[in-house]
Amino acid sequence: MTRPILPEHGGKTRPTPTRPPRAPPARTAIDAPTSPARRPIALATLRAQAAHCRECPLGALATQTVWGEGAGHARLMIVGEQPGDREDLIGRPFVGPAGHLLDKALAALGWDRDAIYLTNAVKHFKHELRGKRRMHKTPGQLEILACAHWLQGEIDAVGPAALVALGGTAARSLMGRPVKVLSERGQWLQRPDGRRVLVTLHPSALLRGDPAGREREFERWVSDLALAGDVLQPH
Ligand code: URA
Repeated sequence: MTRPILPEHGGKTRPTPTRPPRAPPARTAIDAPTSPARRPIALATLRAQAAHCRECPLGALATQTVWGEGAGHARLMIVGEQPGDREDLIGRPFVGPAGHLLDKALAALGWDRDAIYLTNAVKHFKHELRGKRRMHKTPGQLEILACAHWLQGEIDAVGPAALVALGGTAARSLMGRPVKVLSERGQWLQRPDGRRVLVTLHPSALLRGDPAGREREFERWVSDLALAGDVLQPH
């Protein structure tokens, strides 16, 4: 309850205390789309802005920002973790070993890569040097959060009917919470903005797995991805 401001001696009223204006709440990837006033920014504009991003330390260490690519109004958006070594050098997502495995899965499903929008939760290659080799490092929460508005910008601009999260980083960024990929894989989750997110493994996890079980794991991964097949059909 607020206390009445009583007149001081001499009958003068005490000036009403003023509070500094409250800062707007920090935006996350999840709550951004609920704002009714926001209009999507064009992909080309976002891409140009992200090219100079220094909102976390990764930008200064990478060769370039790796922006998403594919159909500008794709019905399905596939989100990975971050560019790898090759993607960092070439400047395109999913063009290294993990990308080749993804291409193999898309071919098995009969999906056209150009009809999908492919991107990453984090737009710069996080790595550490071991000798001359650049070793992948998993992005941290702060890096995921710093990049979340770029991913949200892509979602707003492309307007996919559904998304696929490849691995924990993508799932965390899209859902705004940690996701247990092994127990939630092959399931549709729903974001507060209503968009559906299918969670499955990251292709690198398959590449790192036991070679003896690789073919079986690949088939299981493809059947996870197949759950998004209906999304690609125009309605
Ligand atoms: N891994 C990812 O998550 N994204 C890429 O673009 C390449 C490898």
